[in-house]
Amino acid sequence: MTITKEAVLKALSYVEEPDLGQDLVTLNMIENIEIDGLTVAFTVVLTTPACPLKQLIHDACERAIHTMVDKDANVVITMTSRVTTLRNNRGDLLPGVKNIIAIASGKGGVGKSTVTANLAVALAATGAKVGLVDADISGPSMPTMFGVENEAPHVFQGPNGKNLIQPIEKYGVKLMSIGFLAPAESAIVWRGPMASSALKQFITEVDWGELDYLLLDLPPGTSDIHLTLVQTVPVTGAVIVTTPQKVALADAQKGLQMFRQPQINVPVLGVVENMAWFTPAELPNNKYFIFGESGGQRLAAQHDVPLLGQLPLVQSIRENGDQGQPAVLDPESAVGKMFADLAEAVARQVSIRNNVAPKTAVVQMNP
Ligand SMILES: Nc1ncnc2c1ncn2[C@@H]1O[C@H](COP(=O)(O)OP(=O)(O)OP(=O)(O)O)[C@@H](O)[C@H]1O
Ligand SMILES: [Mg+2]
Repeated sequence: MTITKEAVLKALSYVEEPDLGQDLVTLNMIENIEIDGLTVAFTVVLTTPACPLKQLIHDACERAIHTMVDKDANVVITMTSRVTTLRNNRGDLLPGVKNIIAIASGKGGVGKSTVTANLAVALAATGAKVGLVDADISGPSMPTMFGVENEAPHVFQGPNGKNLIQPIEKYGVKLMSIGFLAPAESAIVWRGPMASSALKQFITEVDWGELDYLLLDLPPGTSDIHLTLVQTVPVTGAVIVTTPQKVALADAQKGLQMFRQPQINVPVLGVVENMAWFTPAELPNNKYFIFGESGGQRLAAQHDVPLLGQLPLVQSIRENGDQGQPAVLDPESAVGKMFADLAEAVARQVSIRNNVAPKTAVVQMNP
């Protein structure tokens, strides 16, 4: 009996993407079906580059063909990915950017910038196109964390005659920070509307090109700057960073609620618990809960959002940050693996979030 494309599609329509709760055919994830005798080849287009379910989906497809089409079929599956977006025509602001993720905390010094830097590098390492905006205009830290303090971005005239800033590229991430435009010593104090318009300008007048994820490292607090920013820029979702400490949790909760206000209405993708415990290098199996235990986990549970990860307090994370080499650059290290897992968790939540769009919109976003 000859194998037909219809039979292959029928079989694959029984394979579900577990995160998205729909089958691969409905989700438009099957492409390039080719049949040659007993050889059945097709491509599965995942919605995140480092999909943790990759092997599972691959095996389920193979099984479906063997049980429903031909037990002797030679199944050749190519697994690729295309990050989804809810931004259908992507509007005037940042048209090439698929997903904008704001990283916020409430309390200062809990590790937002450290998490953002490592998250950006980890996402880029999976093959995603990643940009990062250091939106902390009073205390930019990204130039240091990426070791590019002395670089000045190039400004050029864009296609419509407007000036565009070329972002600095490091570790596969396109980076923009007010720190590049004003020397650290100058200590400009940006406030209120001026701060907001400066921010908007250096987010939108940058030549980002095509990006899967643009991360915004927000300043601490829940000020007007935050409100204006998330109302100006079409933010896909927010990640809340906190330590397990009581005072940090109270502020993180304010941050979380800020995004959920009706006039803001930005979905919270989840909580990252940073400095969850301390592990000394010489006692790698010991955990000391310096700031209390599982506070981030409780915050996530209370507000019914995922806990994206728990990161320990590790000296090398701080050292690597100061040296301009994010800890995640060593993928074999325990810390590197934790950040890689965090990147997977964030990408997964973005993908789940994007799939709440009506089916027709999903079709449009996969041209
Ligand atoms: N998991 C960690 N282990 C060790 N040191 C950490 C960790 N996370 C952050 N740090 C260190 O803590 C300090 C504060 O971190 P960071 O600057 O990322 O916080 P922040 O929330 O961005 O602060 P701000 O509110 O000032 O923007 C830095 O020196 C950083 O290196
Ligand atoms: Mg910071």
